[in-house]
Amino acid sequence: MAQPSARRVRDVVFVDGARTPFGKAGSALAETRADDLVVKVFRELLRRNPTLPPERIDDVAVAATTQIGDQGMTIGRTAALLTGLPRSVPGYSVDRMCAGAMTAVTTLSSAIMADQYDVALAGGVEHMSRHPMGEGMDLSPRFLAERLVDTDALIMGNTAENLHDRFPHLTKERADAYAMASQTKTAAAYEAGWIQPDLVPVATRSAELGWGLLSADEVMRPNTTLEGLAALKTPFRPHGRVTAGNSSGLNDGATGAILAAEEVADELGLSKKMRLVGFAFAGVEPEVMGVGPVPSTEKALARTGLSIDDIDLFEVNEAFAVQVLAFLDHFGIADDDPRVNPMGGAIAVGHPLASSGIRLMSYLARDFERTPSAKYGLTTMCIGLGMGGTVIWENLNHDGSAR
Ligand SMILES: CC(C)(COP(=O)(O)OP(=O)(O)OC[C@H]1O[C@@H](n2cnc3c(N)ncnc32)[C@H](O)[C@@H]1OP(=O)(O)O)[C@@H](O)C(=O)NCCC(=O)NCCS
Repeated sequence: MAQPSARRVRDVVFVDGARTPFGKAGSALAETRADDLVVKVFRELLRRNPTLPPERIDDVAVAATTQIGDQGMTIGRTAALLTGLPRSVPGYSVDRMCAGAMTAVTTLSSAIMADQYDVALAGGVEHMSRHPMGEGMDLSPRFLAERLVDTDALIMGNTAENLHDRFPHLTKERADAYAMASQTKTAAAYEAGWIQPDLVPVATRSAELGWGLLSADEVMRPNTTLEGLAALKTPFRPHGRVTAGNSSGLNDGATGAILAAEEVADELGLSKKMRLVGFAFAGVEPEVMGVGPVPSTEKALARTGLSIDDIDLFEVNEAFAVQVLAFLDHFGIADDDPRVNPMGGAIAVGHPLASSGIRLMSYLARDFERTPSAKYGLTTMCIGLGMGGTVIWENLNHDGSAR
């Protein structure tokens, strides 16, 4: 009987990442299809990596939380065909709510590590105009009848209010100050031209306004003030602490990334921005889902043998300011630590749910490029129904110096 060839484990590199600018739900991208957004990103990735022969792509995984209509029909496959990839390139779809694109990356990377794939395309999209959160949901009645979860667990803003209850020292003032910093850092990053290189402008159309072009994130509010934030309503609870200003909003957008085995990237002359070190997902109580990044990060650190002190840069998704603060507080990191979200985050640019994991990775790749003294960085995010996800990366621009 033939013996299988020796099994190998290979290193995975993040070759490149791109995204559409994020739109405000109901606005610039409202009349553009979700699958067209993914295609735009994939074509841009192929355009700027011309040495990648499309037929070398072994698989395409695209995440969406609401897999209906233009986000349904196995969007990984439909987007591959619409992009014009050879028909021999397969595709599939992924759902882990907000961590969909993150899971597309970890799943494809696992296949590359296991020597089954050489190159893969990961993506994520959420068109919250066309697919409002919870569209078509048919939750088992057992969840509430058997008190498997509290009703709060189903409304993300309520889970953020619950976090404020659980950690009273994470006050509204701290959440507002954090949110304001996200806006300021985003404005500074745009000013410095750090964010634009990974954006793919998208033609927009509106029955009312005609054609246009979206070339920057639509929802940024660079003129945010602490006074303005303090005066906002708390839509999730009377006299609560969570507002439109210290939460991410409702957005439309898509992201994509090329992943490759390191040796294949070398063979094809592809850029190598960062190397995957390890990853973990973890579950927490659904009623405080925002705390998910704490155990997923603890787990990823333990698996990789690193400590939090080894991490030089952090890209933390800002679903809600309080949830980032809970993460920082747990690890003894200051609210305004410059290693955290140096280009701002989702509070300022938006959070089209399943797409955001790759936005974090593209940001980290750029952070690494600007910071050659940084060796390790992590991307982490909270996930609905009580989960967290963390991916640790190594900077391939690292110059060996200590930070
Ligand atoms: C919080 C939320 C309900 C607000 O929705 P919304 O009311 O449509 O948001 P808007 O953008 O219209 O903002 C509401 C108000 O706050 C104001 N505002 C928002 N951000 C502001 C800022 N940074 N500074 C000053 N004002 C601000 C808006 O101008 C608006 O004012 P108006 O009512 O006078 O027009 C919505 O964004 C939400 O549900 N976010 C969470 C999304 C989520 O759960 N994602 C998943 C995470 S796990």
